[in-house]
Amino acid sequence: MADSIEDYVRETQKRVQAKTSKIRAPHVFDFNYVPNKPLMREELKPVVDGLLRYLSTGIPNHLLIVGSRGSGKTLSVRYLEELFRRKGLELVYVNCRLANSSYKILAHLLGIRARGYSFEELAVRFEDRYGPKTVVVLDEVDLITDRNMDILYFLSRSEAQYMTILLSNNPKWVTGLDQSVQSTLQSEPIYFRPYSAEELREILCDRAKTAVGGAPDEVLGEIAALTAKMTDSDVRVGIKTLYYWAVEPETALRDNFYRAQREVVVDVVKSLHDKNLLILKAGAGKERRLKEVYDAYRILCRRYREEPFSYVHFCKSLPYLQSLGLVLLTFTKVPRTYAKAMQLTFPPEILDTFWRVRFG
Ligand SMILES: Nc1ncnc2c1ncn2[C@@H]1O[C@H](COP(=O)(O)OP(=O)(O)OP(=O)(O)O)[C@@H](O)[C@H]1O
Ligand SMILES: [Mg+2]
Repeated sequence: MADSIEDYVRETQKRVQAKTSKIRAPHVFDFNYVPNKPLMREELKPVVDGLLRYLSTGIPNHLLIVGSRGSGKTLSVRYLEELFRRKGLELVYVNCRLANSSYKILAHLLGIRARGYSFEELAVRFEDRYGPKTVVVLDEVDLITDRNMDILYFLSRSEAQYMTILLSNNPKWVTGLDQSVQSTLQSEPIYFRPYSAEELREILCDRAKTAVGGAPDEVLGEIAALTAKMTDSDVRVGIKTLYYWAVEPETALRDNFYRAQREVVVDVVKSLHDKNLLILKAGAGKERRLKEVYDAYRILCRRYREEPFSYVHFCKSLPYLQSLGLVLLTFTKVPRTYAKAMQLTFPPEILDTFWRVRFG
């Protein structure tokens, strides 16, 4: 045992250095890292086609890319951003988590403080600054809080003929929009399906090569299989597991996976709305029929004085929770037939922490 804090720091530093020294390129474990050659996927073709059409005609075709967490939406457009810039098409990117209103989005893209101007003034400045053949990418677009969605009206009606690419992991986002916004946009929906275990393995194989000079096939295969099965294929969990495998090789791979999953899930649960927390709380425990979970949900709502969703609305919010990798929607056998069921995909203790903070 170390005698002093200083001894402890010194000893631990030696151990940490020994474990991490074999990582040649730690930055590839950063979720924002853009690999030189991302894995190609079929769904990217309509995005590339749309951009090429716009590049040669200047006539915009708006795209809406929807797909579950970690299905490569952000990475794909960030990669294309670079590639098309070299061809003369400017892609300007904004994450609506950071700029969550029409006004803030324009201010952000203009690089000015969001104060002292009207939205219309910002729009004029935007048109002065960005000419035709500009593609505006709004990532996590469902997090824009203003109801009127002025930004979408502006971008789709401007004489500069901007093209927009909207990204979201909420498949219901468009249907919740005002009819007039929907018809102004006329965006082509593109669905990024979750990666297969084989695709995950390829992505991880590439990361492992750059980071640590490679990893055994069986390790990559197991991480990919666990990620596909337990997280709706969120690549982030796979990448984080790979990191722990590299620095904690003596820990069982499954335990490294659970640790990675827990850390990634904490970030997601932290950003959830109370209404979704209530649904998850009601669904904690073993796999149960949706009707039973809904009954438990209503009881919780009554206890915490929240207005409950109708059963239909409740069911409609589940695919969103699934796309975040938090629940698994299944069918369970009941006498003579099957019924829809759900199950949480993460340890309920994670939920409890946030539950106590929000609901006491
Ligand atoms: N095709 C791919 N090739 C290489 N790496 C990938 C690929 N797709 C995803 N990744 C990696 O997986 C991680 C998650 O991808 P990304 O951030 O693009 O997901 P997302 O679909 O935008 O998720 P969210 O809905 O949470 O924003 C990133 O670290 C990214 O580099
Ligand atoms: Mg993203």
